[in-house]
Amino acid sequence: MKLLSIETSCDETAAAIIHKDPTDSFTTILSNVLSTSLGLHAKTGGIIPEIAAREQLKFIIPVIKKALEDTNSSEKDIDAIAVTIGPGLIGSLLVGVETAKALAFAWNKPLIPVNHLYGHIYANWINQKEPIEFPAIALIVSGGHTDLVLMKNHQDIQWLGGTRDDAAGEAFDKVGRLLNLPYPAGPAIEKNAQQGNVKAFNLPRPIINSDDFDFSFSGLKTAALREVQKIQTLDEKTTNDLCASLQQAIIDVLIKKTIKAVQKYDAKSVLLGGGVAANQTLKQQLESTILNLKSNIRLFVPPKSLCTDNAAMIGAAGAFNYIEKSWREIDANPELYFD
Ligand code: KG4
Ligand code: ZN
Repeated sequence: MKLLSIETSCDETAAAIIHKDPTDSFTTILSNVLSTSLGLHAKTGGIIPEIAAREQLKFIIPVIKKALEDTNSSEKDIDAIAVTIGPGLIGSLLVGVETAKALAFAWNKPLIPVNHLYGHIYANWINQKEPIEFPAIALIVSGGHTDLVLMKNHQDIQWLGGTRDDAAGEAFDKVGRLLNLPYPAGPAIEKNAQQGNVKAFNLPRPIINSDDFDFSFSGLKTAALREVQKIQTLDEKTTNDLCASLQQAIIDVLIKKTIKAVQKYDAKSVLLGGGVAANQTLKQQLESTILNLKSNIRLFVPPKSLCTDNAAMIGAAGAFNYIEKSWREIDANPELYFD
Protein backbone atom coordinates (compact mmCIF):
# COMPACT_ATOMS: atom_id res chain seq x y z
CA MET A 1 0.00 0.00 0.00
CA LYS A 2 1.28 3.45 -0.93
CA LEU A 3 0.06 6.47 1.02
CA LEU A 4 0.45 10.12 0.23
CA SER A 5 0.62 11.94 3.58
CA ILE A 6 0.23 15.63 4.29
CA GLU A 7 1.23 17.60 7.41
CA THR A 8 0.50 21.31 7.87
CA SER A 9 -0.34 21.69 11.57
CA CYS A 10 2.08 24.51 12.35
CA ASP A 11 4.95 26.09 10.40
CA GLU A 12 6.02 23.06 8.35
CA THR A 13 4.44 22.28 4.98
CA ALA A 14 5.19 18.61 4.41
CA ALA A 15 4.24 15.74 2.10
CA ALA A 16 5.53 12.20 1.92
CA ILE A 17 4.94 8.94 0.13
CA ILE A 18 5.24 5.95 2.38
CA HIS A 19 4.83 2.23 1.81
CA LYS A 20 3.39 -0.45 4.10
CA ASP A 21 1.92 -3.83 3.31
CA PRO A 22 -0.65 -5.25 5.77
CA THR A 23 1.82 -7.78 7.20
CA ASP A 24 4.70 -5.29 7.53
CA SER A 25 5.63 -4.30 11.09
CA PHE A 26 7.07 -0.97 9.93
CA THR A 27 6.69 1.62 7.20
CA THR A 28 9.19 2.66 4.56
CA ILE A 29 9.74 6.20 3.33
CA LEU A 30 9.70 6.55 -0.45
CA SER A 31 9.86 10.34 -0.39
CA ASN A 32 9.68 12.93 2.38
CA VAL A 33 9.51 16.61 1.44
CA LEU A 34 9.36 19.58 3.77
CA SER A 35 9.28 23.32 3.51
CA THR A 36 9.36 25.41 6.66
CA SER A 37 8.52 29.01 7.45
CA LEU A 38 10.61 28.81 10.63
CA GLY A 39 13.09 31.39 9.32
CA LEU A 40 10.31 34.00 9.19
CA HIS A 41 9.24 33.21 12.78
CA ALA A 42 12.82 33.28 14.08
CA LYS A 43 12.78 37.04 13.43
CA THR A 44 9.78 37.50 15.72
CA GLY A 45 10.89 34.95 18.34
CA GLY A 46 7.70 32.90 17.99
CA ILE A 47 5.18 31.67 15.45
CA ILE A 48 2.70 34.17 14.06
CA PRO A 49 -0.27 31.98 12.99
CA GLU A 50 -1.39 34.26 10.14
CA ILE A 51 2.07 34.22 8.57
CA ALA A 52 2.38 30.44 9.04
CA ALA A 53 -0.96 29.89 7.26
CA ARG A 54 -0.04 32.13 4.34
CA GLU A 55 3.25 30.28 3.89
CA GLN A 56 1.38 26.95 3.97
CA LEU A 57 -0.73 28.15 1.04
CA LYS A 58 2.38 29.07 -0.96
CA PHE A 59 4.09 25.72 -0.48
CA ILE A 60 1.43 23.04 -0.24
CA ILE A 61 1.13 22.26 -3.99
CA PRO A 62 4.88 22.41 -4.79
CA VAL A 63 5.65 20.18 -1.79
CA ILE A 64 3.05 17.53 -2.79
CA LYS A 65 4.25 17.70 -6.42
CA LYS A 66 7.84 17.14 -5.32
CA ALA A 67 6.90 14.18 -3.08
CA LEU A 68 5.22 12.54 -6.11
CA GLU A 69 8.04 13.42 -8.54
CA ASP A 70 10.74 12.09 -6.20
CA THR A 71 9.19 8.62 -6.48
CA ASN A 72 8.08 8.93 -10.11
CA SER A 73 4.55 8.45 -8.81
CA SER A 74 1.30 9.76 -10.12
CA GLU A 75 -2.21 9.63 -8.68
CA LYS A 76 -2.75 6.07 -9.98
CA ASP A 77 0.07 4.77 -7.75
CA ILE A 78 -1.48 6.21 -4.57
CA ASP A 79 -3.89 4.01 -2.59
CA ALA A 80 -5.02 6.59 -0.03
CA ILE A 81 -4.24 10.03 1.37
CA ALA A 82 -3.40 10.56 5.07
CA VAL A 83 -3.68 14.06 6.50
CA THR A 84 -3.12 15.73 9.88
CA ILE A 85 -6.51 17.03 11.08
CA GLY A 86 -5.25 18.37 14.45
CA PRO A 87 -4.15 19.53 16.92
CA GLY A 88 -2.51 22.67 15.58
CA LEU A 89 -3.09 26.16 14.25
CA ILE A 90 -6.45 26.36 12.50
CA GLY A 91 -5.23 28.42 9.52
CA SER A 92 -2.32 26.05 8.88
CA LEU A 93 -4.39 22.89 9.41
CA LEU A 94 -7.08 24.06 6.99
CA VAL A 95 -4.57 24.32 4.14
CA GLY A 96 -3.51 20.67 4.47
CA VAL A 97 -6.97 19.29 5.22
CA GLU A 98 -8.75 21.12 2.40
CA THR A 99 -6.00 20.26 -0.09
CA ALA A 100 -6.21 16.58 0.93
CA LYS A 101 -9.99 16.67 0.55
CA ALA A 102 -9.74 18.25 -2.89
CA LEU A 103 -7.21 15.62 -4.02
CA ALA A 104 -9.30 12.78 -2.57
CA PHE A 105 -12.33 14.07 -4.48
CA ALA A 106 -10.47 14.67 -7.74
CA TRP A 107 -8.53 11.39 -7.65
CA ASN A 108 -11.33 9.36 -6.02
CA LYS A 109 -9.14 8.13 -3.15
CA PRO A 110 -9.99 7.39 0.48
CA LEU A 111 -8.81 9.81 3.14
CA ILE A 112 -7.29 8.84 6.50
CA PRO A 113 -7.58 11.47 9.25
CA VAL A 114 -4.48 11.52 11.49
CA ASN A 115 -3.93 12.99 14.95
CA HIS A 116 -0.61 14.88 14.84
CA LEU A 117 0.32 13.50 18.29
CA TYR A 118 -0.08 9.93 17.04
CA GLY A 119 2.23 10.96 14.20
CA HIS A 120 5.01 11.80 16.69
CA ILE A 121 4.59 8.35 18.28
CA TYR A 122 4.54 6.54 14.91
CA ALA A 123 7.77 8.19 13.78
CA ASN A 124 9.21 5.21 15.68
CA TRP A 125 7.71 2.77 13.17
CA ILE A 126 9.48 4.27 10.17
CA ASN A 127 12.29 2.16 8.65
CA GLN A 128 12.41 0.33 12.01
CA LYS A 129 13.40 -3.27 11.44
CA GLU A 130 13.49 -4.23 15.11
CA PRO A 131 10.07 -5.17 16.46
CA ILE A 132 8.61 -2.73 18.98
CA GLU A 133 7.07 -4.85 21.71
CA PHE A 134 3.96 -3.93 23.68
CA PRO A 135 3.06 -2.65 26.17
CA ALA A 136 4.96 0.50 25.24
CA ILE A 137 5.17 3.86 26.99
CA ALA A 138 5.45 6.84 24.64
CA LEU A 139 6.70 10.23 25.74
CA ILE A 140 5.71 12.98 23.32
CA VAL A 141 7.74 16.12 23.91
CA SER A 142 7.24 18.95 21.44
CA GLY A 143 6.82 22.71 21.35
CA GLY A 144 3.12 22.43 22.08
CA HIS A 145 2.77 19.10 23.92
CA THR A 146 4.19 16.97 26.69
CA ASP A 147 2.24 13.73 27.04
CA LEU A 148 2.77 10.25 28.43
CA VAL A 149 0.87 7.54 26.60
CA LEU A 150 0.37 3.82 27.18
CA MET A 151 0.16 1.64 24.06
CA LYS A 152 -1.13 -1.87 24.71
CA ASN A 153 -1.31 -2.43 20.97
CA HIS A 154 -1.99 -0.36 17.85
CA GLN A 155 -5.71 -0.22 18.63
CA ASP A 156 -5.39 0.47 22.37
CA ILE A 157 -3.68 3.80 22.98
CA GLN A 158 -4.34 5.40 26.36
CA TRP A 159 -3.33 8.88 27.54
CA LEU A 160 -1.77 8.75 31.01
CA GLY A 161 -0.99 12.39 31.67
CA GLY A 162 0.34 15.60 30.20
CA THR A 163 1.44 19.10 30.97
CA ARG A 164 -0.82 21.28 33.06
CA ASP A 165 0.67 24.46 31.59
CA ASP A 166 3.73 24.92 29.36
CA ALA A 167 5.09 22.11 27.20
CA ALA A 168 8.73 21.02 27.60
CA GLY A 169 9.70 22.58 24.25
CA GLU A 170 7.91 25.77 25.22
CA ALA A 171 10.04 25.96 28.39
CA PHE A 172 13.20 25.65 26.25
CA ASP A 173 11.90 28.30 23.85
CA LYS A 174 10.71 30.81 26.47
CA VAL A 175 13.89 30.64 28.56
CA GLY A 176 15.90 30.79 25.34
CA ARG A 177 14.21 34.08 24.55
CA LEU A 178 15.29 35.46 27.97
CA LEU A 179 18.84 34.42 27.09
CA ASN A 180 18.63 36.04 23.63
CA LEU A 181 19.00 32.68 21.88
CA PRO A 182 17.53 32.14 18.39
CA TYR A 183 14.02 30.67 18.15
CA PRO A 184 13.32 27.77 18.55
CA ALA A 185 15.82 27.66 21.38
CA GLY A 186 15.96 23.90 22.12
CA PRO A 187 18.95 23.14 19.87
CA ALA A 188 20.89 26.25 21.07
CA ILE A 189 20.22 25.43 24.73
CA GLU A 190 21.42 21.87 24.18
CA LYS A 191 24.61 23.15 22.50
CA ASN A 192 25.37 25.75 25.21
CA ALA A 193 24.56 23.24 27.95
CA GLN A 194 27.48 21.07 26.80
CA GLN A 195 29.85 23.78 28.14
CA GLY A 196 27.80 24.53 31.26
CA ASN A 197 27.49 23.28 34.83
CA VAL A 198 24.15 21.62 35.61
CA LYS A 199 24.52 22.51 39.31
CA ALA A 200 25.30 26.21 38.81
CA PHE A 201 21.65 27.21 39.26
CA ASN A 202 19.32 25.49 41.67
CA LEU A 203 16.17 25.26 39.54
CA PRO A 204 12.98 23.46 40.65
CA ARG A 205 11.75 20.11 39.28
CA PRO A 206 7.99 20.88 39.39
CA ILE A 207 5.65 18.06 40.48
CA ILE A 208 8.41 15.48 39.96
CA ASN A 209 7.06 13.36 42.83
CA SER A 210 3.34 13.89 42.24
CA ASP A 211 1.15 10.83 42.24
CA ASP A 212 0.18 11.10 38.56
CA PHE A 213 1.72 11.34 35.12
CA ASP A 214 1.29 15.09 34.75
CA PHE A 215 3.95 17.71 34.09
CA SER A 216 4.23 21.43 34.81
CA PHE A 217 6.96 23.63 33.40
CA SER A 218 5.70 27.18 33.90
CA GLY A 219 7.14 27.47 37.44
CA LEU A 220 10.51 26.36 36.11
CA LYS A 221 10.36 29.07 33.46
CA THR A 222 9.54 31.69 36.13
CA ALA A 223 12.40 30.44 38.34
CA ALA A 224 14.77 30.78 35.37
CA LEU A 225 13.43 34.30 34.75
CA ARG A 226 14.21 35.26 38.37
CA GLU A 227 17.77 33.98 37.97
CA VAL A 228 18.21 35.98 34.76
CA GLN A 229 16.95 39.13 36.52
CA LYS A 230 19.52 38.63 39.30
CA ILE A 231 22.43 38.26 36.87
CA GLN A 232 24.47 41.46 36.35
CA THR A 233 26.00 40.56 33.00
CA LEU A 234 24.81 37.64 30.95
CA ASP A 235 28.23 36.42 29.79
CA GLU A 236 28.95 33.20 27.93
CA LYS A 237 29.73 31.14 31.05
CA THR A 238 26.56 32.22 32.88
CA THR A 239 24.46 31.54 29.78
CA ASN A 240 25.98 28.07 29.41
CA ASP A 241 25.43 27.32 33.11
CA LEU A 242 21.79 28.42 32.97
CA CYS A 243 21.22 26.35 29.81
CA ALA A 244 22.76 23.28 31.47
CA SER A 245 20.76 23.75 34.70
CA LEU A 246 17.48 24.30 32.82
CA GLN A 247 18.00 21.35 30.48
CA GLN A 248 18.82 19.06 33.41
CA ALA A 249 15.74 20.16 35.37
CA ILE A 250 13.49 19.39 32.37
CA ILE A 251 15.21 16.06 31.67
CA ASP A 252 15.01 14.97 35.33
CA VAL A 253 11.22 15.43 35.38
CA LEU A 254 10.69 13.79 31.97
CA ILE A 255 12.76 10.74 32.91
CA LYS A 256 11.27 10.32 36.41
CA LYS A 257 7.67 10.30 35.14
CA THR A 258 8.47 8.10 32.15
CA ILE A 259 10.18 5.47 34.32
CA LYS A 260 7.29 5.59 36.78
CA ALA A 261 4.90 4.76 33.91
CA VAL A 262 7.24 2.04 32.61
CA GLN A 263 7.27 0.35 36.01
CA LYS A 264 3.55 0.70 36.67
CA TYR A 265 2.56 -0.80 33.30
CA ASP A 266 5.44 -3.24 32.99
CA ALA A 267 6.40 -1.76 29.63
CA LYS A 268 8.68 -3.60 27.23
CA SER A 269 9.42 -0.56 25.07
CA VAL A 270 9.84 3.18 25.57
CA LEU A 271 9.18 5.46 22.60
CA LEU A 272 10.24 9.09 22.31
CA GLY A 273 8.70 11.53 19.87
CA GLY A 274 8.41 15.25 19.16
CA GLY A 275 10.98 17.98 18.63
CA VAL A 276 12.50 17.75 22.12
CA ALA A 277 13.26 14.05 21.46
CA ALA A 278 16.01 15.39 19.18
CA ASN A 279 17.85 16.32 22.40
CA GLN A 280 20.77 13.89 22.65
CA THR A 281 21.30 14.50 26.39
CA LEU A 282 17.70 13.44 27.07
CA LYS A 283 18.20 10.37 24.89
CA GLN A 284 21.49 9.37 26.55
CA GLN A 285 20.25 9.86 30.10
CA LEU A 286 17.00 7.99 29.44
CA GLU A 287 19.00 5.20 27.82
CA SER A 288 21.32 4.82 30.81
CA THR A 289 18.41 5.02 33.30
CA ILE A 290 16.65 2.20 31.42
CA LEU A 291 19.88 0.20 31.30
CA ASN A 292 20.21 0.54 35.09
CA LEU A 293 16.78 -1.04 35.52
CA LYS A 294 18.50 -4.27 34.39
CA SER A 295 15.54 -5.38 32.32
CA ASN A 296 15.06 -6.00 28.63
CA ILE A 297 13.21 -2.75 28.07
CA ARG A 298 14.14 -1.15 24.75
CA LEU A 299 14.29 2.56 24.02
CA PHE A 300 13.30 3.78 20.55
CA VAL A 301 14.08 7.30 19.38
CA PRO A 302 13.47 8.41 15.79
CA PRO A 303 16.30 10.09 13.87
CA LYS A 304 16.35 13.86 14.45
CA SER A 305 14.68 14.67 11.13
CA LEU A 306 11.70 12.49 12.12
CA CYS A 307 11.47 13.90 15.68
CA THR A 308 10.48 17.35 14.46
CA ASP A 309 7.32 17.79 12.36
CA ASN A 310 7.28 15.88 9.07
CA ALA A 311 4.77 14.11 6.83
CA ALA A 312 6.32 10.61 6.90
CA MET A 313 5.23 10.20 10.54
CA ILE A 314 1.66 11.12 9.54
CA GLY A 315 1.79 8.46 6.83
CA ALA A 316 3.07 5.90 9.34
CA ALA A 317 0.30 6.73 11.84
CA GLY A 318 -2.29 6.53 9.04
CA ALA A 319 -0.96 3.19 7.81
CA PHE A 320 -1.17 1.57 11.25
CA ASN A 321 -4.53 3.15 12.11
CA TYR A 322 -6.13 2.79 8.71
CA ILE A 323 -9.53 4.45 9.05
CA GLU A 324 -10.93 5.17 5.60
CA LYS A 325 -13.17 8.21 5.36
CA SER A 326 -14.82 10.06 2.54
CA TRP A 327 -13.64 13.63 1.99
CA ARG A 328 -17.11 14.75 3.18
CA GLU A 329 -16.48 13.38 6.69
CA ILE A 330 -13.20 15.17 7.40
CA ASP A 331 -12.67 18.52 9.09
CA ALA A 332 -9.70 20.25 10.69
CA ASN A 333 -9.87 20.14 14.49
CA PRO A 334 -7.31 22.42 16.18
CA GLU A 335 -8.31 21.15 19.65
CA LEU A 336 -7.98 17.44 18.82
CA TYR A 337 -6.33 15.47 21.63
CA PHE A 338 -6.24 11.87 22.84
CA ASP A 339 -9.63 10.07 23.15
O1 KG4 B 1 7.61 18.59 17.31
P1 KG4 B 1 8.06 19.95 16.93
O2 KG4 B 1 8.93 20.09 15.70
O3 KG4 B 1 6.88 20.92 16.73
C1 KG4 B 1 5.72 20.87 17.53
O4 KG4 B 1 4.81 20.06 17.19
O5 KG4 B 1 5.71 21.63 18.52
O6 KG4 B 1 8.86 20.52 18.22
C2 KG4 B 1 9.45 21.79 18.26
C3 KG4 B 1 10.07 21.97 19.64
C4 KG4 B 1 10.59 23.39 19.91
O7 KG4 B 1 10.09 23.82 21.16
C5 KG4 B 1 12.11 23.21 19.96
O8 KG4 B 1 12.77 24.14 20.82
C6 KG4 B 1 12.24 21.80 20.47
O9 KG4 B 1 11.20 21.09 19.80
N1 KG4 B 1 13.54 21.20 20.14
C7 KG4 B 1 14.46 20.85 21.07
C8 KG4 B 1 15.59 20.36 20.36
N2 KG4 B 1 15.32 20.43 19.03
C9 KG4 B 1 14.05 20.94 18.91
N3 KG4 B 1 14.43 20.92 22.41
C10 KG4 B 1 15.52 20.50 23.09
N4 KG4 B 1 16.64 20.04 22.49
C11 KG4 B 1 16.73 19.96 21.14
N5 KG4 B 1 17.83 19.50 20.56
ZN1 ZN C 1 4.72 18.28 16.31
